[in-house]
Amino acid sequence: MASAVAWTLLTVNIFLLIVQILGGRDFYKILGVPRSATTNQIKKSYRKLAREMHPDKNKDDPDAEDRFRDLGAAYEVLADADKRKIYDKHGEEGLQKGDVHGDPFSSFFGDFSFFGGGMREQNREIPRGGDVIMDLEVTLEELYSGNFIEVLRYKPVGRPAKGTRKCNCRTEMVTQQLGPGRFQMTQQQVCDDCPNIKFVPEEKVLEIEIEPGMRDSQEYPFVAEGEPHIDGEPGDLKFKIKQQKHSKFERRGDDLFTNVTISLVDALGGFEMTIMHLDGHKVHIVRDKITWPGAKMRKSNEGMPNYENNNVRGSLYITFDIDFPKGVLSDQEKQALKEIFKQESKHRVYNGLQGY
Ligand SMILES: *[C@@H]1O[C@H](CO)[C@@H](O)[C@H](O)[C@H]1NC(C)=O
Repeated sequence: MASAVAWTLLTVNIFLLIVQILGGRDFYKILGVPRSATTNQIKKSYRKLAREMHPDKNKDDPDAEDRFRDLGAAYEVLADADKRKIYDKHGEEGLQKGDVHGDPFSSFFGDFSFFGGGMREQNREIPRGGDVIMDLEVTLEELYSGNFIEVLRYKPVGRPAKGTRKCNCRTEMVTQQLGPGRFQMTQQQVCDDCPNIKFVPEEKVLEIEIEPGMRDSQEYPFVAEGEPHIDGEPGDLKFKIKQQKHSKFERRGDDLFTNVTISLVDALGGFEMTIMHLDGHKVHIVRDKITWPGAKMRKSNEGMPNYENNNVRGSLYITFDIDFPKGVLSDQEKQALKEIFKQESKHRVYNGLQGY
């Protein structure tokens, strides 16, 4: 008896194992999120794990690269609503079988809807509430590192109310018999009686993810969070990113620009300094050569992260300005300078009024 139970358990175990192998990787487990996770939760978790699990940070773990690849694969699927749907239904297998048009199973079953009379509803336009567009002020720091912003929205929500209202109104042809063999056809507005609805404002917290590299004027839509429509679908709510001015950095595309003023001594003798970047990391600058006013230095990969591919970054351009000392030098000092720079003191160019 006991051995029969053990045998059953063993077969169940083997069965589970096979199912797991066939089903591929558990993307939810890899990302550490529940199956009900929102896209925001998935993105948040991915960003956190990607930072921790990056192979560069786990050099002594031989599996680090594989685990990082699994994480990337999991994110690619679960962050994409269509792929996630397929994955939820058919596992990783389903995704590999799927062609570019998406879910192979749904198109198979989709063909049957011809028999189901699904055509009827097609031509009727569903009314839709208005879209709401709101500006969302974001700092350059947030656009550099990413952030989650919570917005409290008072949204009108339909609630049952007393009485009924006319709904599903449409025009129908009505045939009336006037006498033997005589009919009259008229158009008539026909409505149903629906339970009444009144709109009540309700508090709702919306979580907005400011993704690294988002651009000014970029729109961030919340589907169906706009104005409701009593007979149809609500419109969308869209947040429009408004990048605030920054005191130190100017952004052009994915490049950043900043100005630094150095002393004349540093300009001539070379210098070393650090610039605090938008996320607090330090950018090291070393120069041995003479720096002239307006000289530019380019630091590649120190610009903004690219929105489409966060691993690509723009450049940081630093323009130097020289703080000249004031006053007069002594004859001795002037002589010393002449000896150092060996520039002809008659070396002057009169530029005139070029370009006028
Ligand atoms: C740098 O200086 C130039 C010239 O004064 C100015 O036009 C530009 O806005 C400055 N950039 C920043 C980021 O302050």
